Order: sequence, then C-alpha cells, then structure tokens
Amino acid sequence: MKDLTLDIRIEKTENSRLSTVDFNNIPFGKTMSDHMFVADYRDGKWQDLRVVPYDSFQLSPATSSLHYGQSIFEGLKAFRNAQNAEEVLVFRPEENAKRLNVSAERICMPTIPEEIFMEGLHTLLEIDREWVPNTPDSSLYIRPFMFATDSFLGMRPSETYTFAIITAPAGKYYSKALRLKVEKEFARTAPGGTGFAKVAGNYAASLLPAKLAAEQGYDQLLYTDAKERKYIEESGTMNVMFDIDGTFVTSPTIPVEDTILRSITRLTVIELLEEMGKKVEERHISVEEVITAIKEGRLNGAFGIGTAVTIAPFASIADEGIDYELPADYTFAQELKDKFQGIQKGEIEDTR
Ligand code: COI
Repeated sequence: MKDLTLDIRIEKTENSRLSTVDFNNIPFGKTMSDHMFVADYRDGKWQDLRVVPYDSFQLSPATSSLHYGQSIFEGLKAFRNAQNAEEVLVFRPEENAKRLNVSAERICMPTIPEEIFMEGLHTLLEIDREWVPNTPDSSLYIRPFMFATDSFLGMRPSETYTFAIITAPAGKYYSKALRLKVEKEFARTAPGGTGFAKVAGNYAASLLPAKLAAEQGYDQLLYTDAKERKYIEESGTMNVMFDIDGTFVTSPTIPVEDTILRSITRLTVIELLEEMGKKVEERHISVEEVITAIKEGRLNGAFGIGTAVTIAPFASIADEGIDYELPADYTFAQELKDKFQGIQKGEIEDTR
C-alpha cells in the first residue's frame, strides 16, 4: 500500500459495539463494524471524504436511487495474516475498484478514483482492525457501494451521489452443499442489459425466482441464457464451474458475454487451477451437456464461485422436474477453497 495522501476526516465512535460480538458465531451481513467511509459527489467532484461512526443516512423520500435504481455495489474480504495476526490482508482490492467503475459507467454514475476507493478502504480498516475475525472460516466482509442522491422525481441521471464502504464480520455463507434448479422461465438479465455490472436491480430481479425455487426445496438457481434458455450463465450470486472428466468448464463473461458478472474470485480460481496443471475452458456450456455428463458419470463435481461464498459445492441439479445428484465424495472444491483462503490469509504466496 502506497502512503496515504488524501485528506480524510476521521470521527471515531465513543460507543464501540465490538465487545457485544460473538466472533465464534457470526451470521453473514447482520452485524456491521463501528465505522464507515463516506464520500459525496457534488458539483462534478468527490468531496468530504470521511470515516465516521456507522449510522443511518438521512434521505429525502424523493431520493432518485430509491425510485430508479441508480445503485451499485462491490464485495470483498479482509483477513488477518496467518503469519502475523496484527496485519490485515485484503485480497486484490484494486480489482473491485475497477469493477465498481465498470458498473458505474453502465448506469450513468460518476466513476470513483481508485485512490479514493483504496485510501478510504485502508483508513477504515485501520480504524476497525479489531473487527477482523481471527476464527476459522471467517473474515471481515467489505461492502463498497454507491447510490444516487438527487431529490428529484424526473427521469435522468442524478447529479449527486454518495459512495460508502461498510464492513461486517462474517462466518460461512452456506453451511452445506447446494441443491440447484435450472431456471428457464425467469431471466436475471438479457443481452444488452446490465448482467455484467454489479447493479442493485440485478439482485432484485433474482429474488422472485429464488423465492419460488426455495418453496420447492432448492437453495439456488442455475440461470440459463435469456434467448435460447439453453446455456448456463450464473447461479444466483455466483459464477459456476463444472469439473467434467477433469476439465474445468466455466461460462464466459465480458467481453464474450455481457449477461454474466465477472467474478474476481473466479479469475483467481482459474489461475490456481492452471497453476495446478488443470485444464480450464471458459466457454458456453449447455444444460444438456451437464445433464449428459451427470448421467454418464463424467461430472466429477461442480461449484459456485463468489466473494461471499468463496467456493460453494453443488449437491444436485434439477432440470425438467428431475433431480440429478452429484457425486457426494467430491473433495476437490474444498481443496481449492483451502488453497484460495490460504492465499487470502498469507499462508500461501500470491504468485501474481
Ligand atoms: C458477493 O459475493 O460479494 C455478493 O455479491 C453476494 C452478495 C449478494 C451476498
């Protein structure tokens, strides 16, 4: 990390909530740390950079992001260095800064200079360093986000915005392998849409199909392409990977497809697999190909990849009313997860 150069105002809380947190039992996303980083965009520039006690925002009922969805976010994680618990490690945060700006441009928001993102993050983590868990399978989940703040009901890009970073200590996102259902009715997004961007509306669009699938006993969906309903895109909040005969197949993201979010975790997983000498194919993969591989016993295993989940193994895939069970003894997903977390925690060298 370079020396910090920005003028960031700091106001610390007098009522830390740290002692109330049970770090051995931390459900995802419920408890926020003591402080947050905030910056406002007004008169064409980012200003009033500050780390302040975590608190509510005061918003006009006409705040445009509430009505028209100009709202984007990122997700990343901080860990304690396994070699030196005093040091806090964040894995490749500049990738998140870049992706946030890809999302911003797609929905006509101003980009945030990488310097503000990075210095805001590091200042916040320095102040809330005690909130970074040191328990197995846990991390400090970091949520940068930006939303439009004009109080205006007319339909146009807002002229003012708030960028903020909040953090939340978190344990495991899923505690068991996932039962999936192939989704051919609802689409998360479509070509030319916002699928490649981390915009709030994509997540809203996925709520109803996920709720209906949950009512049928499924944990997640496998979205298919909106045009042909043939190719697998994403699984809820995760990219997907299928181990077919030892080749790892994953659906293509931008620039090939603009319907799938380009997971930063997946890029690292691909690097890791290649370092391990495994064959990786980033290409379209149809539902039929996966189901045939399951039937022929060639699908060794499959898993979802994302910041929150890291690597989440799949237990079964349902298509056209039939549940296909995946091999229950697939240990490679856990092996890969351990390796990835080893890098995040500084146990294994990041060779990039
Ligand atoms: C993440 O993995 O950071 C996500 O975006 C998942 C989140 C919606 C819980």
